[in-house]
Amino acid sequence: MAVFSNSGLAVLLFVYVFLLLGHGRVNSEPTQDKQALLAFLNQTPHENRLQWNTSDSACNWVGVKCDPTSSYVYTLRLPGVALVGQIPANTIGLLSQLRVLSLRSNRLSGELPADFSNLTALHSLYLQDNLFSGNFPASVTQMTRLTRLDLSSNKFNGTIPFAVNNLTHLTGLFLQNNDFSGNLPSINPVSLDDFNVSNNRLNGSIPTTLAKFDASSFAGNPNLCGGPLRPCNPFFPTPAPSPSSIPPLIPVKKSKKLSKAAIIAISVGSGLILLLLLLILLLCLRRRRQRQPTKPPKPTALPRTVSAAAAEAGTSSSKDDITGGSSEAERNKLVFFEGGIYSFDLEDLLRASAEVLGKGSVGTSYKAVLEEGTTVVVKRLKDVVVTKKDFEMQMETLGNIKHENVVPLRAFYYSKDEKLLVYDFMVAGSLSALLHGSRGSGRTPLDWDNRMKIALSAARGLAHLHVSGKVVHGNIKSSNILLRPDHDASVSDFGLTPLFGTSTPPNRVAGYRAPEVVETRKATFKSDVYSFGVLLLELLTGKAPNQASLGEEGIDLPRWVQSVVREEWTAEVFDVELMRYHNIEEEMVQLLQIAMACVSTVPDQRPSMQEVVRMIEDMNRGETDDGLRQSSDDPSKGSDGQTPPPESRTPPRARTP
Ligand SMILES: *[C@@H]1O[C@H](CO)[C@@H](O)[C@H](O)[C@H]1NC(C)=O
Ligand SMILES: *[C@@H]1O[C@H](CO)[C@@H](O)[C@H](O)[C@H]1NC(C)=O
Ligand SMILES: *[C@@H]1O[C@H](CO)[C@@H](O)[C@H](O)[C@H]1NC(C)=O
Ligand SMILES: *[C@@H]1O[C@H](CO)[C@@H](O)[C@H](O)[C@H]1NC(C)=O
Ligand SMILES: *[C@@H]1O[C@H](CO)[C@@H](O)[C@H](O)[C@H]1NC(C)=O
Ligand SMILES: *[C@@H]1O[C@H](CO)[C@@H](O)[C@H](O)[C@H]1NC(C)=O
Repeated sequence: MAVFSNSGLAVLLFVYVFLLLGHGRVNSEPTQDKQALLAFLNQTPHENRLQWNTSDSACNWVGVKCDPTSSYVYTLRLPGVALVGQIPANTIGLLSQLRVLSLRSNRLSGELPADFSNLTALHSLYLQDNLFSGNFPASVTQMTRLTRLDLSSNKFNGTIPFAVNNLTHLTGLFLQNNDFSGNLPSINPVSLDDFNVSNNRLNGSIPTTLAKFDASSFAGNPNLCGGPLRPCNPFFPTPAPSPSSIPPLIPVKKSKKLSKAAIIAISVGSGLILLLLLLILLLCLRRRRQRQPTKPPKPTALPRTVSAAAAEAGTSSSKDDITGGSSEAERNKLVFFEGGIYSFDLEDLLRASAEVLGKGSVGTSYKAVLEEGTTVVVKRLKDVVVTKKDFEMQMETLGNIKHENVVPLRAFYYSKDEKLLVYDFMVAGSLSALLHGSRGSGRTPLDWDNRMKIALSAARGLAHLHVSGKVVHGNIKSSNILLRPDHDASVSDFGLTPLFGTSTPPNRVAGYRAPEVVETRKATFKSDVYSFGVLLLELLTGKAPNQASLGEEGIDLPRWVQSVVREEWTAEVFDVELMRYHNIEEEMVQLLQIAMACVSTVPDQRPSMQEVVRMIEDMNRGETDDGLRQSSDDPSKGSDGQTPPPESRTPPRARTP
């Protein structure tokens, strides 16, 4: 890695070797997977030079890689070995832990067996240059962890299904040189950056979500128009509307089976009905308020000042009545974002029982349980300096950010004295609590798989903020990483720094603050990456970074890690709670390398969040040298198309002294 000094690199290599030697590998066998592989080879004609020694472990076979404990096959690569015919059922589909499958450049034909839908761990599928036929394989839309999908140069036909959107992590989708027809659906995975549907029989217009791609991604479809191609004849039917262009509150998912016309009719119709309902509701509410103008809300557990100020704003004439004209109920109400799931008003919120969750750097958070049982988090901001208009504009931006790894902002409230934000409540609490709460005494430590899961999901959330939302988080720290019960993480408290004056630096917790921010006082995408690097170090070391601004003891994590590694007490870097898990050393060192790249003092040397996501996804996870070999299958990275497996089996650990 370019970011390391020579001595740093040497030390990391040392760590790598040290840890590898420390734990000899168990030479067990993936028995079930071996049966499945043998069944595949026996039933599929192929070149004779592909021979697997049945008395040897399957993990040593050409084209096969296993997880570190040799319990499962993680990678199967058989490019260009003249495999012929249909893939039999109950063979490859049984490799339940498979991460990478490459069968490109063979003469495989027919449809994929239905049991491919069980390959849910798969993140790369390369089937290009074969004779596969039939519709777009339904099983593929269930491989929700796919990042690269290449079905190009086959004989697939029928339409490209909207369900491709199920593959939310896709970065590359290659469907060129097939026989796909009909309209292109609106395909919208966040990080899709390689896309090709050229040389098919697609027709209609290119959806806006795909218009950013080059004309050569669409060439060879005579009846396709719009986007980078020629403009569409206005009488062409438009493709299914993209999720973003659908009016609020329409469930997008259900509409994919309906015809385009029906979708549009329903969208418009229900949009109108909803609008009508909303209007009626608003009128009723206003009438009720006008009739009982002075009735105060019941006492609440939210702090008195909140209730008082908010009650005043919501139900009686407010002090910041500068503009006049429109009714104050209009101007000082809880503003919900579209697509939300809540239906309560400010009064409901004030009647809720509330408990303090934490006092953060931007304000205090409360957990509020409404009378109907809904639980939300209310954040009460302090020291907001922007005008109401700027506040609302920023809220509009933040409210529109929707991603499974971002805690959704549901509503906001603005008055002169009170600024409230309403978020979803995340039951499993924060990473900070999980990592540092009551250490030692009979608590379950956070295991390695879950730490990896948190690292990856938080990175995805942040990358979404940066790439799709164009929003700088500005306050990344472990207490703003919230968890679901399955340890999927979501980032919270994002994009609030523009609301505060420059006198208060972004990321007020010193330990996470990028060095340049101390001077510029401005959070950037790169300073977010630095903070995320500190977060990774926190996950690896189990140590909390400097909390100086909150008056707590702490350390400068990046400097501490560097000093420890330099002194060669390497193993000391890692959290003692991780020492009980085996075969994770390689991964820990890899994550450490990613973290160190993120906390580089020079902003330009830090990777982007998207690159960080890619690096974590590409981490070995038992698929040693996968990153290198994956590129040979990936057309976007320059494939020669014909590398036979024996050559790609150079020993991965050539570094051993
Ligand atoms: C097959 O593997 C076994 C065990 O590793 C080995 O003893 C034997 O020589 C191998 N046979 C061939 C033909 O390579
Ligand atoms: C997927 O695996 C489960 C159990 O592992 C099995 O019951 C099911 O039949 C499999 N699905 C297909 C389509 O083979
Ligand atoms: C989308 O993925 C989910 C699993 O996450 C699966 O249950 C569902 O069937 C998939 N939808 C389609 C249309 O394949
Ligand atoms: C797809 O190809 C199959 C033959 O492989 C054919 O029977 C079927 O009609 C084709 N479908 C379309 C929509 O062209
Ligand atoms: C597009 O192709 C589909 C199926 O091949 C056909 O039903 C439809 O009429 C075509 N639309 C246009 C505008 O050519
Ligand atoms: C898409 O595929 C076609 C055919 O293989 C190729 O000529 C074209 O350059 C590709 N475009 C992109 C953007 O990869």
